[in-house]
Amino acid sequence: MFQQKTYIKRRKVLKEKVGKGLILLFGNEESPMNYTDNTYHFRQDSTFLYYFGIQHPGMVAIIDIDNDKEIIFGDDFTIDDIVFMGPKPTIAERAEQCGVANVQVTNDLAVVLAKAKQMGKTIHFLPLYRPENKIKLQELIDVAPSEVASKFSIDLVKAVVSQREIKTDEEIVQLNQAVDVSVDMHVAAMKFAKPGMTEAQVTAEIQKIAIAAGGNISFPVIATINGQTLHNHYHGNIIKEGELFLVDAGFENQMLYAGDLSSTFPVSRKFTPEQKEIYQLTLDAHRASINALGLGLPFKNAHIAACLTIFDGLKAIGFTKGNAGDAFEAGAHALFFPCGTGHMMGLDVHDMEDLGEVWVGYEGKPKSTQFGLKSLRLAKPLQAGHVFTIEPGIYFIPELIDLWRSQNKYNDFINWEKVDSYRNFGGIRNEENFVMTKNGAKRLGKPKPKTIEEIEAIRTEVS
Ligand code: GLY
Repeated sequence: MFQQKTYIKRRKVLKEKVGKGLILLFGNEESPMNYTDNTYHFRQDSTFLYYFGIQHPGMVAIIDIDNDKEIIFGDDFTIDDIVFMGPKPTIAERAEQCGVANVQVTNDLAVVLAKAKQMGKTIHFLPLYRPENKIKLQELIDVAPSEVASKFSIDLVKAVVSQREIKTDEEIVQLNQAVDVSVDMHVAAMKFAKPGMTEAQVTAEIQKIAIAAGGNISFPVIATINGQTLHNHYHGNIIKEGELFLVDAGFENQMLYAGDLSSTFPVSRKFTPEQKEIYQLTLDAHRASINALGLGLPFKNAHIAACLTIFDGLKAIGFTKGNAGDAFEAGAHALFFPCGTGHMMGLDVHDMEDLGEVWVGYEGKPKSTQFGLKSLRLAKPLQAGHVFTIEPGIYFIPELIDLWRSQNKYNDFINWEKVDSYRNFGGIRNEENFVMTKNGAKRLGKPKPKTIEEIEAIRTEVS
């Protein structure tokens, strides 16, 4: 946990921003895999963690702005719990650590909320994503799970986003540490993968680093020879000479701050000439995105820079034709880059995505619905303290190639014969994490090997 004063200050700012009413914040519960006592890894809700710092299941908090009163609701371990899971701090001890003066048992929550409702107070809650918390909400204040998406408090969402999106110095320390370990995970994969291994073996090597560092993975590891599938979690293939291997993996540290990096390397010692050409182009797009970052400038600029660089680079080697700007407007670049250049990162790997992308990445304005651009999670102007990923990539997706070609789509921009000859190429992505500062964007964590020379030097040592 951070010091008590951090949480007190965060809640003070939240109260000022929301102004009036009562804020209801749910922590997460244990989540059963196949029966009650066999649970998934417990992960606290990030907003609850942000304001209270408590990593313990089953807690709920009320911040009564009008009466300037904060209450944490929860139940102390029974002797049965202690026998099976060991002694734990009491709820009162946990509340004290984050500067909350009042604790009550969970059963009291309904009474407190009923009274607030009776008095006509506004009860602010967030767009809940866990079914058990949606059910609790229904039982407590009679908002059905299907109504959560329309009845959550936009004022609360805006207030939370405006606080959580600006990372403080103490958070940047955490994020740097999370990214450092993430780099170790990637270097481990580069040094470990050999022809004949399964993707699962490489995945285990990556995950081992995260667990040994005292945290966990920040999202399920992507470690695949089919990098053209953007979120590929299948690890059953045997890797072979000549293939590309894409890793997208990050560390979640003990404070639950995330890192999120991607790397692509040859299974062989060296890239083939074709792989080298496309790989270098992804690096050029990466650099173009970084060059487009600036305080007050929309992150969308970085995305456009990546898209134009990819389109023009592919034009130079015969995949595309026509004007890059026109191709971007029409959406033709998305054949090769059907996703976004980056997203916010923090306590969540896609930071605050549960609160809604339009609030986190678009200042409440609607997102594009165009294929490709609709997957850009961050577009708004950058402020000091914003932390985000930069991750342009180039992907040859056979199913998308076949579909668009059969539809005669983008014939003015795409050389289909040439593209088809690369249908089994796979995908390439490099990803790094940045914080925007008053002096420009600064990469988080230690450098990750990325240039062709750096990657080939590691791969040559392996075999
Ligand atoms: N790096 C995984 C993701 O952004 O979803």
